[in-house]
Amino acid sequence: MLRFLTAGESHGKALIGIIEGMVAGLEIKEEDINKELSLRKKVFGRSERAFEEADKIEILSGIINGKTIGSPICLKLSNKEKKFENESVPRPGHADLAGAMKYNFRNIHLVSERASARETAMRVAIGTIAKKFLSEFNVEFFSHTLMIGGIRTSLKLKDFNNELRQKRDKSDLYCIDEKVICKMKEKINEARKKGDTLGGISEILIRGLPPGIGSYVHYDKRLDYCLAGALMSIPSVKAVEIGEGILGSESFGSDFHDSISYNGKILRKTNKSGGIEGGVSNGETIILRLYVKPVPTLKNPLPSFDIVTKELKKAPYYRSDICVVPSIGIIGEAVSAWEIARLFLEKFGGDTLTEVKRNFNIYNSNLRLFELK
Ligand SMILES: Cc1cc2nc3c(=O)[nH]c(=O)nc-3n(C[C@H](O)[C@H](O)[C@H](O)COP(=O)(O)O)c2cc1C
Repeated sequence: MLRFLTAGESHGKALIGIIEGMVAGLEIKEEDINKELSLRKKVFGRSERAFEEADKIEILSGIINGKTIGSPICLKLSNKEKKFENESVPRPGHADLAGAMKYNFRNIHLVSERASARETAMRVAIGTIAKKFLSEFNVEFFSHTLMIGGIRTSLKLKDFNNELRQKRDKSDLYCIDEKVICKMKEKINEARKKGDTLGGISEILIRGLPPGIGSYVHYDKRLDYCLAGALMSIPSVKAVEIGEGILGSESFGSDFHDSISYNGKILRKTNKSGGIEGGVSNGETIILRLYVKPVPTLKNPLPSFDIVTKELKKAPYYRSDICVVPSIGIIGEAVSAWEIARLFLEKFGGDTLTEVKRNFNIYNSNLRLFELK
């Protein structure tokens, strides 16, 4: 069983991640993880805090001479910023008030230190290992920004390639449509001027997953359940769409479902199901859309009250991001890679990469029988 835990506060000494169940023999370099960590933060609309943290991973255990050894992998990310103060006014849109009530705290920071999205840096590090594992089986991930504050690209991606990846990485909004990048930036600048924030939509495509990952036999084995649940755990993600799920809710079945054809190979002309039917991957590209709410800390704050003095006050403002949609794409890639790796190992499980590859190859030769006459 593949599992992980994270620990650490936003302004504590460090974030820690422990992974158990990763196969032995997988090559991992610190640079692989650092590259994804830098993609998470180097985007337009993030605060200086994001840029100031070094975000350099330290591998403390489980990887020797650049290869996993099957034992628990311990990762560490040190925090540069370590200030910690008292605060008794909760911010709307954060866990501040509900968390303080739950744990009977009078200092909001005892909640926000852990509820903060800083934790997602460690989840990106952990997910990068899952991604590296899946890349051994040619499973690839690509996220890009579809919409920011109502400014939306009309491009519809069915697939991706290296050219698109380079285009995405060049844009500091991770948007591949040059026609809307400027408008998105203007909108973010408008929010900045008003002391406001924005949300949007990020899309993730996952290519190369064979049919048969996840299962319909029980609810908690369904791939859509696992992906949507995990992606909803990313702070700010308020909805997850799979394929054309939203459009499907207003369509005739005959217009929506992806008909099946055979021509020496199994063929689908459309992929409105987003690569998942009945909780199982069907071999098509997995398409996920993450709907992100606006960042809750506002320079022009909303009304709140002091939980100690009971005075009506404005919510506090700390240095804060204005829009995190592009970062959420990178976090979403890592989070979905983890879920897929977990279900992948459930199906092809083994202690070593070689063992898993052997199981995978046997399964693939069985799949070919569906196409051979
Ligand atoms: C990468 C990332 C960075 C974020 N940065 C901030 C921030 O600077 N200020 C803020 O108020 N919220 C920020 N958020 C959003 C909050 O963490 C999130 O809205 C809050 O924890 C409440 O959780 P919920 O939105 O899931 O209800 C960020 C989220 C992510 C994913």
